[in-house]
Amino acid sequence: MGNKVSVVGAGFYGSTTALRLAQYNIFDTVVLSDIVEGKSEGLALDMNQSRSIEGFETKVIGATTTAEGAGYEATANSDVVVITAGLPRKPGMSRMDLIGVNAGIVRGVAENIAKHSPNAVIIVVSNPLDEMTALAQIATGFPKNRVIGQAGMLDTARFTNFVAEKLGVAVSSVKTLTLGSHGDTMVPVPSRCTVDGVALSEKLSAAEIEDLVTKTRNGGAEIVALLKTGSAYYAPSAAAARMAKAVIEDSGAIMPVCAWVDGEYGISGVYLGVEAELGRTGIRKVVETKLSDSELAELKAAAEAVRAKQADVQSL
Ligand code: NAI
Ligand code: 2OP
Repeated sequence: MGNKVSVVGAGFYGSTTALRLAQYNIFDTVVLSDIVEGKSEGLALDMNQSRSIEGFETKVIGATTTAEGAGYEATANSDVVVITAGLPRKPGMSRMDLIGVNAGIVRGVAENIAKHSPNAVIIVVSNPLDEMTALAQIATGFPKNRVIGQAGMLDTARFTNFVAEKLGVAVSSVKTLTLGSHGDTMVPVPSRCTVDGVALSEKLSAAEIEDLVTKTRNGGAEIVALLKTGSAYYAPSAAAARMAKAVIEDSGAIMPVCAWVDGEYGISGVYLGVEAELGRTGIRKVVETKLSDSELAELKAAAEAVRAKQADVQSL
């Protein structure tokens, strides 16, 4: 206890993340904030009233903020801040369609967070993820290791679920990996996937694996199409909360995240989905894994695709 995490944006993603973080019972305080007056305070009251049933002592504090920065005092001196503020997709939209409006929101939020929590590790989830992570780093001016994006944990969890369902096995027996962008250039990595330690290629045909890869790439859009309004939040919030936990516990857990890449895989100067070791300083180091030639080529293509867009966010 004695640690503080803030979650900015009390929509579906933010509120489920705040509750998961509170239920870990490892934080002193979880602050949930939003620009809609009273929304965070109401959700915080509700979450606190579940404490005796679920058995956690963490206090959830709700705060209404303004774009100009009022209300951010409640988030002051957070150890970790999760940025979920921003619009979600509607059916038929790509994540990139959100860039204009979400860039304005994320820039403002990041500047206010930097003012009040200058030592925080920031976990960005707002879409388009790779670009919003780059923008948050620029807006805060924080060292790049202290600004991380959440996408790979989610995409990997989706891939794992699809493999487990296809084979009718426990999810715990399946290991998968996705790298690259949280978008069209996502790179599921079948060569690193195993079921009870056996290579996935020995369990499924190439065509079956390709089908699951496609399902993973479309995992978010499939849910958006079904929900019709809003996007996924149960698996996404589980992913962001686990990252915050790894940071606060200084655990050194290796997770697929959006991190600044500086020479790994022969790629430099871009935020990209890679595996990295997480701790109190954010990204301790990017961890390279062995990829097939085609997977490495896809990762390099993803880097170039997001590099172009990340350069654009400077002016947004
Ligand atoms: P939502 O619409 O339920 O919630 C967004 C919240 O942000 C709203 O409550 C809104 O009032 C608030 N907000 C807007 N401007 C704000 C500001 N300046 N300061 C504070 N709060 C502000 O959307 P949801 O489902 O929570 O998604 C949030 C974001 O997360 C979206 O951009 C979505 O695309 C993204 N997302 C990312 C995923 C990932 O894997 N990286 C997965 C799922 C969603
Ligand atoms: C997802 O993948 C929309 O990015 C969000 O569910």
